[in-house]
Amino acid sequence: MSDAITADGLVKRYGEATALDGLSFTVPQGTVLALLGPNGAGKTTTVRVLTTLLRPDGGRATVAGCDVVRDARRLRSHIGLSGQYAAVDEHLTGAENLEMVGRLYHLGAKRSKARARELLERFDLTGAPPTVR
Ligand SMILES: Nc1ncnc2c1ncn2[C@@H]1O[C@H](COP(=O)(O)OP(=O)(O)OP(=O)(O)O)[C@@H](O)[C@H]1O
Ligand SMILES: [Mg+2]
Repeated sequence: MSDAITADGLVKRYGEATALDGLSFTVPQGTVLALLGPNGAGKTTTVRVLTTLLRPDGGRATVAGCDVVRDARRLRSHIGLSGQYAAVDEHLTGAENLEMVGRLYHLGAKRSKARARELLERFDLTGAPPTVR
């Protein structure tokens, strides 16, 4: 099975500060990876490099077989990235959040609503109470 993510000696500096100092790892397809570490460890920087939002200063990385620098555009068509805060200023329910993402992907109102319902059912979340409105 090929790797979903490869990172090889990633370096990222912010001025004098070195946020990533030769980070290497691989993530096999079909697995879930959690990045854990103390504040300032470089987790957000790593995610931003892997999702093409930041250009690394050294090393290389691929996601879905696409190089984060050379194939950035193609890479972006293969991934989804959700923000650190799940709801838009916490006024949306889980279903409304999913619908909003569907609309952002131009699925259309009807299809977005149906897809949100499908996903909540698939992940067994239909019984979860909505967030505060
Ligand atoms: N825009 C920036 N300019 C300067 N330094 C930065 C910038 N962003 C991050 N850093 C520094 O890079 C290092 C890694 O930061 P990063 O945000 O990637 O860590 P993190 O693991 O996500 O931390 P947290 O758990 O607090 O979210 C830290 O020393 C941080 O201060
Ligand atoms: Mg962070």
